[in-house]
Amino acid sequence: MLAEGLRKMFDKKAALDGFDLAVPAGTVCGLLGPNGAGKTTAVRILATLLRLDGGRAEVAGHDVAREAPAVRRQVALNGQQSTVDGVLTGRENLVMWGRLYHLSKRQAEVRADELLEQFGLTDAAGKRAKLYSGGMRRRLDLASSFIMRPSVLFLDEPTTGLDPRNRGEVWREVKRVVAEGTTVLLTTQYLDEADQLADQIVVMDTGRVAAQGTPDQLKSKLGGDRIEVVVRDADELPVAAEVLGPDAEVDPDTFRVSVAVADRVAALTRVTSALAARGVEAEDIALRRPTLDDVFLAITGHKAVSEVRA
Ligand SMILES: Nc1ncnc2c1ncn2[C@@H]1O[C@H](COP(=O)(O)OP(=O)(O)O)[C@@H](O)[C@H]1O
Ligand SMILES: [Mg+2]
Repeated sequence: MLAEGLRKMFDKKAALDGFDLAVPAGTVCGLLGPNGAGKTTAVRILATLLRLDGGRAEVAGHDVAREAPAVRRQVALNGQQSTVDGVLTGRENLVMWGRLYHLSKRQAEVRADELLEQFGLTDAAGKRAKLYSGGMRRRLDLASSFIMRPSVLFLDEPTTGLDPRNRGEVWREVKRVVAEGTTVLLTTQYLDEADQLADQIVVMDTGRVAAQGTPDQLKSKLGGDRIEVVVRDADELPVAAEVLGPDAEVDPDTFRVSVAVADRVAALTRVTSALAARGVEAEDIALRRPTLDDVFLAITGHKAVSEVRA
């Protein structure tokens, strides 16, 4: 999957402003960005649901503008809206979708049963979908995307609103379809989701790419590990900050002082004894790798989720 200089205008505003992407077949690309960054617009263009105003894109080897029907035969999109009909059972939903894709009644039933099995829904097949948990509904949604065996799957915020257990269930299914060779472009507000699933992460902001790389590459851009000291009360913050040096960051709300370190264990020993020598008894001292949340904040100036929900 490839996109070069994608542009899309809504009214006079650019939702995509020179957006580039390259996703090797069989890998997962995580598209991260604050609300309004253009993630859904990019996905809809690549899935041929929206016409582009500039640039070019190729999906499953076909140009999205000139060969849209060929692209459509190979892709499936799981949008932010569920397509599950709650009145129907899980199996009835899948059979209905199969029929919409012009399978015969018999073919649709066979495919429905295969998918129920693959997505761990056989036991719930005869239950109305409105009685499903959020995670089961999402899995049913995913299963419906696989009726025609797409080679490229677009997932637009597949786990937004799910609790951690249900998110884990959806992640497992995504990993399974990737292991079977599907190429996935996934948008998410959850950085741990991208960390878990994506081979490559593209951070976008205001319609273009702000940063990209593997999760590890992005984290190491922030400069390695940090040492973090939590003191018992605010009076001890200045001393702790002095021990950590001029680059120390102080968070007075959580009594936390931290600084980037290159030498990990030596730094831990040095800081521990220096604090003891100054009579400061720390509540906690730890080495911490930067998280993708740190990366995201550094790149976009936004927090990933709290900003979106605020
Ligand atoms: N159908 C539309 N009409 C007008 N503006 C739109 C439409 N869809 C998206 N936009 C605007 O385009 C920008 C990108 O939106 P979107 O792609 O939905 O971002 P994201 O999915 O990253 O939250 C936003 O400013 C949004 O308001
Ligand atoms: Mg969106």
